[in-house]
Amino acid sequence: MASGSMTSGSMISGRALRSTQWFGATGRSGMAYRGWMRSQGFTPEVFDGRPVIGIATTWSELAPCNVHLHRVAESVKRGVWQSGGFPLEFPAMALGETLLRPTAMLYRNLLAMEAEELMRANPLDGVVLLSGCDKTTPGLLMAAASVDLPAVMVTGGPMLNGKYQGTDVGSGTAVWRFEEDLVAGRMTQEECAFAEGCMARSNGHCMTMGTASTMASMAEALGMQLPYSATWPAVDARRYETAQRAGQVVVGLVRDDLRPSAIMTRAAFENAIRVNAAIGGSTNAVIHLLAIAGRLGVPLSLDDFDVLARHVPTLVNLQPSGQYLMEDFCYAGGLPAVMRELAEHGLLHADAITVTGASVGANVSDAPCWNREVIKTAAEPFQPAGTGTAVLRGNLAPGGAVIKQSASSPHLLKHRGRALVFDSPTDYYAVSNDPDLDVDEDTVLVIRYCGPRGYPGMPEVSNVALPRKLLLRGVRDMVRICDGRMSGTAYGTVVLHVSPEAAAGGPLALVRTRDWITLDVPARTLTLEVSDDELAARRAQWEPPAPHASRGWTHLYTEHVLQAETGADLDFLVGASGHPVPKDSH
Ligand code: FES
Repeated sequence: MASGSMTSGSMISGRALRSTQWFGATGRSGMAYRGWMRSQGFTPEVFDGRPVIGIATTWSELAPCNVHLHRVAESVKRGVWQSGGFPLEFPAMALGETLLRPTAMLYRNLLAMEAEELMRANPLDGVVLLSGCDKTTPGLLMAAASVDLPAVMVTGGPMLNGKYQGTDVGSGTAVWRFEEDLVAGRMTQEECAFAEGCMARSNGHCMTMGTASTMASMAEALGMQLPYSATWPAVDARRYETAQRAGQVVVGLVRDDLRPSAIMTRAAFENAIRVNAAIGGSTNAVIHLLAIAGRLGVPLSLDDFDVLARHVPTLVNLQPSGQYLMEDFCYAGGLPAVMRELAEHGLLHADAITVTGASVGANVSDAPCWNREVIKTAAEPFQPAGTGTAVLRGNLAPGGAVIKQSASSPHLLKHRGRALVFDSPTDYYAVSNDPDLDVDEDTVLVIRYCGPRGYPGMPEVSNVALPRKLLLRGVRDMVRICDGRMSGTAYGTVVLHVSPEAAAGGPLALVRTRDWITLDVPARTLTLEVSDDELAARRAQWEPPAPHASRGWTHLYTEHVLQAETGADLDFLVGASGHPVPKDSH
């Protein structure tokens, strides 16, 4: 203890609570710790040694997907009070996918670092993590992993289905189609303007199986949020009921000292990887799960995703790979129905422990499915095993690359074509409408310098729209290769996360227009048909791009960010510091 002694009632299950170091102190320090908190009108009983629960809220009007989290926090508080805890809400950096430039991914590690330090530096015994938009879920999980205080996640839930001209439209996914229809003249600008108001029509995150829905599902599959948490729509009363339950649960986790390191084990990550395959989840889960595992010291490699997912059929028929949306998934039975199906076919570590205190197998053992159109069976899957995210290697991606097979065109999964190379999406879009662009449906579009260091921040720009002349001819897909990422709401035959990235001197930087490239997804290879001698000669001429910044976060980020194959964390943030803070502030 920093100073003074603990008050009575400060022990829980025979352990001194961490918060007692602050609120149980006597003398000047104790007065300072308690007195200023009392300015909020709390009665002195809140300092009687009950668990103090932080509620990390990524609420912001600049992050529309998270804008309701302030209300979700109120439900969490009810649960914490009910169970004898003392809830304290605090803001953590809100990352809105749609507004942040150059990309929200540039700031995922900053959120993780900020939240980690806030959790550690404050008198907290446990935390509830409120997230929603894409990067907020992994950012908070990375932080919680590094601090390792008992933690429960509550994601904000998906929006209600979008509705346009009598049909369901998925946020994100519909944007790509509307843009293509606009370019091809099948839709007017006025129709587009009307349609944009029909997609995002309630609180919540994107309601396709994009990255937000995927990461919410990953949090549930890892055991870090309560069953059904990933799928209740943001405006559904049961989301708020679940949030209240999470407030109750976290107090129990503090009592039992059940921490993220005991929940997010190798078995839990294997469960998450298989669930990601079963739901047709985003390729971004690869990067985020690697980064979270890195914080915990759990050995996880890029190849694990390929090996583990190969035997898992896609069970969920959701956009962008399928037809339905998260609201439908919820009413069909949600993630527990999927996990039950996996467990019954030996594709889940059923004994992995979760925040409920029970095993994941026990949590989902009697989960019903109400709609087999949306959640298929392993016997009659939506897509057969082996059609999930594949990991590619070859002389063009010695560190690896990924491709989402279920979002690709089957006829392009084995393809040989000549490269058409651009050093940025901007360069490409400057000519993409040119009727004389030297491109056909066999061309392989290479878009580079979009990796963690390159852009910077590894944005979701890899699925560049097709050249206008091909769209007008009815071509709907072509092979694209990039060191950036792709939105989980997007689709197309796009090789992503090429590592090492061009800006780090990877072979992608050496490709030239009209080089032959062979993509062979069944063989898991990506080959640049250029000799080693020629590549060495080109490398000798290559010069790295100028730094993006000489100060600030962008400078720190680009100096320290790791490559996609290990999760794009910062090198000095990998691992954990735990939660002890031995020194007092007074
Ligand atoms: Fe926030 Fe899609 S923009 S989840």
